[in-house]
Amino acid sequence: MSSKITEPEISLLVDTFYSKVRLDPDIGPIFNAIVGDWPHHLATLKDFWSTVLLTTGRYKGDPMMTHLQLPLDPDHFSRWLALFAETAHEVLRPAHAATVIAKSQRIAENFKAGIALQRSTVS
Ligand code: HEM
Repeated sequence: MSSKITEPEISLLVDTFYSKVRLDPDIGPIFNAIVGDWPHHLATLKDFWSTVLLTTGRYKGDPMMTHLQLPLDPDHFSRWLALFAETAHEVLRPAHAATVIAKSQRIAENFKAGIALQRSTVS
């Protein structure tokens, strides 16, 4: 990445993405049923992406464990990734959009693999 993505760009990406997610007919209901404190959720996701993209270390959570507790299937991930890519292209310059989209796809694949493993061990 020639010039580094900035914290204000990460903030805009997260705010814009989750404003779409909350209205989305497919994945919106999952978020709206669980997230009670949206300002806190948005702050957590800004810490998460700041840690992933700028190695600031601000995020200390365990996202895999969080997503193993959720009623997710591969279609939900396809919708999440499509909305995220759409938002990245809208608010970021192309080089930054490509970087965050690639990271989101890799992380989503990890979550899907973790969920599949969890379900294969319980059935
Ligand atoms: C199927 C798609 C997804 C759905 C429906 C989903 C839904 C959620 C929900 C409802 C929460 C809040 C959980 C809680 O507060 O208990 C959450 C947290 C989170 N999600 Fe996702 N998620 C999805 C995919 C992803 C992906 C692909 C990423 C990263 C690239 C991601 C990153 C996070 C992070 C960092 C948190 C915060 C976990 C914490 O509290 O530390 N999610 N997600």
